[in-house]
Amino acid sequence: MIVTTKDLFKAAYGKYAIGAYNINNLEQCMGLFRGNIASKAPFIIQISKGARGYTNKLMLEGIIRAADQVFPEAIFAVHLDHGDEETCMDCINSGFYSSVMIDASSKPYEENIAITKRVVDAAHAKGLVVEAELGQLGGVEEHVKVSESEAKLTDPDQAKDFVTRTGVDSLACAIGTSHGAFKFSGTQGLHFDVLAEIQKRLPGFPLVMHGSSSVPQDEVRRINIAGGKLAGAKGVNADEFLRAAQLGVTKINIDTDGRLVWCRVHREHFILHPEDFDLRPAGKEFMAAYAEFIAAKNVKLGSAGKLDEVRAMLAK
Ligand code: G3H
Ligand code: 13P
Ligand code: ZN
Repeated sequence: MIVTTKDLFKAAYGKYAIGAYNINNLEQCMGLFRGNIASKAPFIIQISKGARGYTNKLMLEGIIRAADQVFPEAIFAVHLDHGDEETCMDCINSGFYSSVMIDASSKPYEENIAITKRVVDAAHAKGLVVEAELGQLGGVEEHVKVSESEAKLTDPDQAKDFVTRTGVDSLACAIGTSHGAFKFSGTQGLHFDVLAEIQKRLPGFPLVMHGSSSVPQDEVRRINIAGGKLAGAKGVNADEFLRAAQLGVTKINIDTDGRLVWCRVHREHFILHPEDFDLRPAGKEFMAAYAEFIAAKNVKLGSAGKLDEVRAMLAK
């Protein structure tokens, strides 16, 4: 069942976070649903602009609609990740998405407000909800590259002003994370002090943490042994998710980790089976490994086991 992120946030706020996982293809979709059903977790499927263009946006929609039928017990939101205004409007008018993210965080503050407000008005008129971003994460995302020194943490006072003036439903805050597999050069970690200040000014308002892959060191080690070159890859400590959730982080975005699982499975598979050229054996291994990864991640997020509770809340 497709629901809005707002529905999921109502159930989770202050207690746990909902996993928001990016997908691009059928195997990721299958692994994602299996992992969430196995761990009885509500979840968010994220589709980036790049994912919409990888095959065709309608292919991805078709796969997700089919998964909804194959797994009738699943409760999830379908969310556009890091949209520009044009892509947001396309998703809002598609009738498929339940929420969109407008990311105008690289624009000057007033322009970010104006763009976000236009998207919020269009989305709310059709019953969709909107996530926006304030501050600047480090790392690479599609066409924007921000070095760690250029990254800018979210200003708590500005966050309150931004939410009030745009009417947005959730806010992605920069609190020290970055996109990709190479986070935290040096000894930095999450800025819980900044998060606490934002929550103080926006009590009860759902916050979003991007760049939250934990870059499991065992995956990195196995990828490197199997010929990869990911020395120094590092991620967020997943044991900090629940502390962030208590401070208002209700959605935690994870993409890189899924790519690492894909890379490890395929590298190892073809080294172990050099005679193999069929895509299905490796695909099956990946779906099983990804499902296992998702189920374990949901335990860290606190969303595992919450599916029936959310179903009951939605039925009221
Ligand atoms: O934050 C970016 C997400 O990881 C999506 O990545 O734009 O390469 O699909 P992508
Ligand atoms: P990671 O690169 O840490 O997986 O972050 C993903 C993300 O923020 C998607 O919006
Ligand atoms: Zn992101």
